[in-house]
Amino acid sequence: MKKESLHFSYMILLLTIVASHSLASTQPRCHEDERSALLEFKTTFFTRKHPCCYYSSPVEQAKIESWNASEGKTQSDCCSWTGVECDKASGHVIGLDLSCSCLSGKIDSNTSIFRLLRLRSLNLAFNDFNCQIPPTIGNLSSLKDLNFSGCNFMGHISHSLRNLTQLVHLDLSVNDLNGMIPTYFSGILNVEHLSLGYNSLTGEVPSSLGNLVQLSTLDLGGYNQLTGEIPSSLGNLVQLSTLDLGGNQLTGEIPSSIGDLIQLTNIDLQYNRLVGEIPLSFQNLLELRSLTLDSNRLSGEIPSLLGRLTQLTHVYLSFNQFHGAIPSTISQLQGLNSLYLNSNNLSGTVKLDMFSEAKNLRMLVLSSNKLSLIVETNITHQYWVLSLGSCNLNSFPEFLQDQNHLELLDLSYNNISGQVPKWFLNVSTENLHILNLSSNFLTSFAQDPVIFKWKELLEVDLGFNELQGSVPIPPPKIECYFISNNRLSGGISPLLCNLSYISMIDFSDNNLTGFLRQCFSNLSGYWGVLNLRSNNFIGKIPEFNGNFNMIDLSYNKLEGPLPRSLRNCNILQFLNLANNHIRDVFPSWLGSLLHLRVLILRDNRFHGFIEEPTNRIKFPMLQIIDLSQNSFSGSLPSKYFKHWTAMEVPKRDSSSYLGIFFVVGWGHFPLSTFDYSMSVFAKGIQMNYSKIQGYLTLIDLSSNNFSGAIPETIRSLKQLKLLNLSNNMLSGPLPPFLANLTNLEALDLSRNQLSGEISRDLTQLTSLEVFDVSYNCLIGPIPKSRQFATFENNSYKGNLGLCGAPLSKKCGYPEALPPSFPTSEEDRDSGSAMEVDWKIVCMGYASGLVIGVVLGNCLITRRRAQSLVKNFSRRKQRRRR
Ligand SMILES: *[C@@H]1O[C@H](CO)[C@@H](O)[C@H](O)[C@H]1NC(C)=O
Ligand SMILES: *[C@@H]1O[C@H](CO)[C@@H](O)[C@H](O)[C@H]1NC(C)=O
Ligand SMILES: *[C@@H]1O[C@H](CO)[C@@H](O)[C@H](O)[C@H]1NC(C)=O
Ligand SMILES: *[C@@H]1O[C@H](CO)[C@@H](O)[C@H](O)[C@H]1NC(C)=O
Ligand SMILES: *[C@@H]1O[C@H](CO)[C@@H](O)[C@H](O)[C@H]1NC(C)=O
Ligand SMILES: *[C@@H]1O[C@H](CO)[C@@H](O)[C@H](O)[C@H]1NC(C)=O
Ligand SMILES: *[C@@H]1O[C@H](CO)[C@@H](O)[C@H](O)[C@H]1NC(C)=O
Ligand SMILES: *[C@@H]1O[C@H](CO)[C@@H](O)[C@H](O)[C@H]1NC(C)=O
Ligand SMILES: *[C@@H]1O[C@H](CO)[C@@H](O)[C@H](O)[C@H]1NC(C)=O
Ligand SMILES: *[C@@H]1O[C@H](CO)[C@@H](O)[C@H](O)[C@H]1NC(C)=O
Repeated sequence: MKKESLHFSYMILLLTIVASHSLASTQPRCHEDERSALLEFKTTFFTRKHPCCYYSSPVEQAKIESWNASEGKTQSDCCSWTGVECDKASGHVIGLDLSCSCLSGKIDSNTSIFRLLRLRSLNLAFNDFNCQIPPTIGNLSSLKDLNFSGCNFMGHISHSLRNLTQLVHLDLSVNDLNGMIPTYFSGILNVEHLSLGYNSLTGEVPSSLGNLVQLSTLDLGGYNQLTGEIPSSLGNLVQLSTLDLGGNQLTGEIPSSIGDLIQLTNIDLQYNRLVGEIPLSFQNLLELRSLTLDSNRLSGEIPSLLGRLTQLTHVYLSFNQFHGAIPSTISQLQGLNSLYLNSNNLSGTVKLDMFSEAKNLRMLVLSSNKLSLIVETNITHQYWVLSLGSCNLNSFPEFLQDQNHLELLDLSYNNISGQVPKWFLNVSTENLHILNLSSNFLTSFAQDPVIFKWKELLEVDLGFNELQGSVPIPPPKIECYFISNNRLSGGISPLLCNLSYISMIDFSDNNLTGFLRQCFSNLSGYWGVLNLRSNNFIGKIPEFNGNFNMIDLSYNKLEGPLPRSLRNCNILQFLNLANNHIRDVFPSWLGSLLHLRVLILRDNRFHGFIEEPTNRIKFPMLQIIDLSQNSFSGSLPSKYFKHWTAMEVPKRDSSSYLGIFFVVGWGHFPLSTFDYSMSVFAKGIQMNYSKIQGYLTLIDLSSNNFSGAIPETIRSLKQLKLLNLSNNMLSGPLPPFLANLTNLEALDLSRNQLSGEISRDLTQLTSLEVFDVSYNCLIGPIPKSRQFATFENNSYKGNLGLCGAPLSKKCGYPEALPPSFPTSEEDRDSGSAMEVDWKIVCMGYASGLVIGVVLGNCLITRRRAQSLVKNFSRRKQRRRR
């Protein structure tokens, strides 16, 4: 998700207020055929609540309603209808503005407005047509202005637009159009405004667009997926004042020809993959007001030429790889309002005083660089947004005492230690919305508990400090409260229970105690995040009646059964209850949660069989399930394996991390993410994921009492990366069909009673990094090829009959027979070390029963295994046909 989407609803709000003028209405009576075409159009569409309608005025919504078929004198003259414009001389309909009219329904080639052949202007923006652009649009060859923005059009851009050679304004933005930008656009030579932003367009930016020398606005930004380089021919568009190519996948350098666009006032190339330096030619862009190049891979120093561009008001260079110092010339930009330089590799010492000439500078964002900021005491500048994270500050800058307009203050990742000074609690108490003091060395507040006075505070992050005492009390408006990784203690104050707007709480990794139910007795409302991990909370888990994305109560001392109200958390994606004392059976009822992706119940007192799924929907999105260290018994949940489709097919959003995006406040505040995190035992060690990749898939059922064979249904989980079934009582063969899990990186089947040989098929698992089958009843030679050349002794030890490298035991048996299993005669010869090994291994799982039973069990399963293996291979052949 990108920043733009958030501006979007805001944008609609602004635009639609402006668009409510009706067109001129003193014209000759309209032509009958056109009148009937309009009336027919009215009956074709029904109006309903389109998102746009929430913002459009009642006048707009009623535009088409007022068109009237009856014979009243004025009402039947379509030239007087709202949204209709007629030619003054001929009376023909030449303009139609039905933007934001809440029209809904398919528009097709027969739709009557395509009979209005004299139309010069057609605005159907922000209605819901939900179809392709009908080809008959080409009939309206007189069109100068065509506005199909926000119409929910899909498919390719119709070829018949080729016919509209008179177009001056073409707006197809905010649709779901895909495919390439048609090269015939370069033939619409009069076009001044071309807007294709917020679609799903692919392919390159046609260099022939450089022919459109009348263009003043070229908007291909938003959510398109354009690739390739920015054509240098765009440098021909000398009338261009707005160039928006942001939010694509453009590569290469910014062509120096862009510097020829001397009329340019706005350039937006953000969220691409552009490299190289800002071209020197940019020094010619003397009209430039807004320079938006953030979120690319641009490098070099920030050029001092920016100081020449005296019209600049907004400079966004964040999230690039710029290095070196901030050029002093920037301070010459008297009109500068916003300077975003965060998340680069800028270094050197900066005196905050350097911006004192830029009298209009309101937003200064310098965080996440390697800057050392010197803050003079005589700063008088009033800031709205001040982000000074990782600026090597040792204390709270004193000039903040006089900042009354601050809406955002970020002092995170500095070296500020000790008690928070009393005066700081009075900084901008009327206006502060966002406060970030995380990752410092703060120890306390002057009072305990402290009650924050920032009336408008929406988000506060005090995480990763050394704060002691009780949890500070935020104001009632707070929405996001992060205070993890401190040393806070005590219970949760009743004052915290009344925060009616709270939607994210992260109190994890503190030393908080007490009953959760007392405060959170009934968690209703909208909750993005409730993270109370690693505290000392006790008692039962509260009831959940809100909308949660993420619940993490792991590493506490919670007990009792799972509250059944969890099944009402329809949007839950992440549930981690690991390391508590919860006593319950498997919560199959959670299977109806359509968004649940992570379920961790590790190390509790869950028990019983995992029954076959009963309800129709069974965890369709689940990609991480950890049930380890409980007392589940019976066979593995084979039926479930069939339904965990998220583990079968590659994820679309696999390149992203699991978590939620959120924004507190309005447009100019940066978008934040809350990444889900977890620890699991994978690849033989505890792995802490501070972010969880969208493609990570994991099943950990280890350390339970599961028995029986590994079910074949597991082979469908093709995206599975980590599979841990160790420390159970699984028997039967080590099935060759595990080779179908081609993405597997770690396979731990250790400490079971698996028997038979290690199939050579498993060498197809070329991603396998960790393989552990130790302490089973396996026999025969160890495969050597591919990944199997890298596994060491420990992967195999404790098996009776495995042989070959890396084990020291050689496979010296005749080829014909499955080797290595002791015959009954050898059994009697109890002198061999190997046999002792074997007994110990299997005893471990027999809880004191007669050794012979265990031994026999292994023998039987070995034979069974052989026939099973044969069966499998036969089946495989049949399927191959
Ligand atoms: C249409 O005209 C009829 C007769 O003149 C009138 O009664 C009716 O209210 C009109 N409808 C609208 C929506 O203007
Ligand atoms: C257009 O109308 C004709 C006749 O009324 C009909 O056969 C045809 O299917 C319609 N076309 C579309 C795209 O709806
Ligand atoms: C409208 O366009 C279609 C092709 O899209 C064409 O077949 C038809 O003849 C056109 N009608 C008129 C009246 O121009
Ligand atoms: C293009 O416009 C002409 C009228 O100028 C019309 O006859 C023709 O059908 C249109 N072509 C398409 C593909 O719509
Ligand atoms: C298209 O219409 C929308 C809604 O009225 C408006 O916001 C937008 O600016 C228009 N596009 C052009 C190019 O005028
Ligand atoms: C950041 O700058 C330092 C020198 O200040 C350099 O050593 C380092 O490689 C740079 N890192 C990146 C990612 O450009
Ligand atoms: C702050 O003081 C320094 C010297 O102490 C001076 O050079 C600078 O101009 C002062 N700045 C302001 C904004 O008064
Ligand atoms: C951080 O602050 C401590 C004292 O509070 C100081 O000893 C240390 O040098 C500072 N570290 C840096 C990198 O400035
Ligand atoms: C956590 O709080 C308990 C008392 O509630 C205390 O005994 C313990 O030492 C605290 N642990 C830490 C790490 O502060
Ligand atoms: C499973 O793997 C076997 C080879 O081991 C292969 O023949 C078969 O096509 C695979 N099945 C699927 C469903 O991928």
